[in-house]
Amino acid sequence: DWEMSKFVEDTVNQVRAQVGNGHVLLGLSGGVDSSVVAALLHKAIGKQLHCVYVDNGLMRYKETEEIEDLFGRAFGIDLTVAHSGDLFLGKLAGISDPEEKRKVIGGTFIEVFADKARGFGDTVKFLAQGTLYPDVIESVSPIGGPSATIKSHHNVGGLPEDLQFDLVEPLRELFKDEVREVGRELGLPSYVVDRQPFPGPGLAVRIIGDITPERIEVLQQADLRVREEIMKMPNHLDVWQYFAVLLPIQTVGVMGDNRTYESVVAVRAVESRDGMTADWYKLPYEVMDSISNRIINEVPGVNRVCYDISSKPPSTIEWE
Ligand code: XMP
Repeated sequence: DWEMSKFVEDTVNQVRAQVGNGHVLLGLSGGVDSSVVAALLHKAIGKQLHCVYVDNGLMRYKETEEIEDLFGRAFGIDLTVAHSGDLFLGKLAGISDPEEKRKVIGGTFIEVFADKARGFGDTVKFLAQGTLYPDVIESVSPIGGPSATIKSHHNVGGLPEDLQFDLVEPLRELFKDEVREVGRELGLPSYVVDRQPFPGPGLAVRIIGDITPERIEVLQQADLRVREEIMKMPNHLDVWQYFAVLLPIQTVGVMGDNRTYESVVAVRAVESRDGMTADWYKLPYEVMDSISNRIINEVPGVNRVCYDISSKPPSTIEWE
């Protein structure tokens, strides 16, 4: 696409002019925006780009490995992965309130990211961010929107005072669909460019109640099956978000001659334009059936699956 290749070329030149031979730090989350910034800056400044990815232990199944493979190995970007799952889980122990979870995760993220940033010493003068045009005009937190006041959304920003950077924001003039096009132009795969939104606090807000390593694993396995089955639908890109939620209750079931007493998983799939409003997605019965069968047969500890048929408003997309 001519327009996109022109954008890439112009932006590459602008970035080079802005940073000269300076070094740039980028918090890579694996989401669309930071992924596109990474690919764009890598094209512009190569080894002057340093990406930091914080694994908070609350990512989807194998997500960290995917990011290491793509950005570290395939692109050859200088990528530092902070394996901080234990730190996050330690701080989250005993916390079940959704806003508390967000605060702890946001605060710990800043702590880990700042620590890694300090590790670069004086060589890094710039911080790159995936700020988009709607963020610029709303000038609220990056995820933005009315729900920002209902749930405390966390993204970078809020770094300690001793860490001062000039910002590099190459996507400031773009809308989301343009960002995806730029990503395609840069050779990012569809599983990155067309990725569904994923909340900063990760699976923590989809594990209702206490967060334990065992419950994270149950949810990761259930979520994987939701995604695999929905991605078999030729029109799966029409579904805005789809995921599993682990409920804090157990129900009775039967397995062979035995009574079971195990967890319930809720499946959520919505259609939406921007996440501000959403309708529950009318998944075909066959898809619901295979999701349910696979979760119950393949994920130990789950014996019941429910489908969430609520729309936003008044329900939110996430359960917490
Ligand atoms: P809700 O649940 O408010 O979600 O309808 C709207 C959109 O925002 C995402 N979301 C978050 N994103 N940090 C984020 O970065 C958060 O704390 C957070 N909470 C919700 C949600 O996945 C949906 O796309």
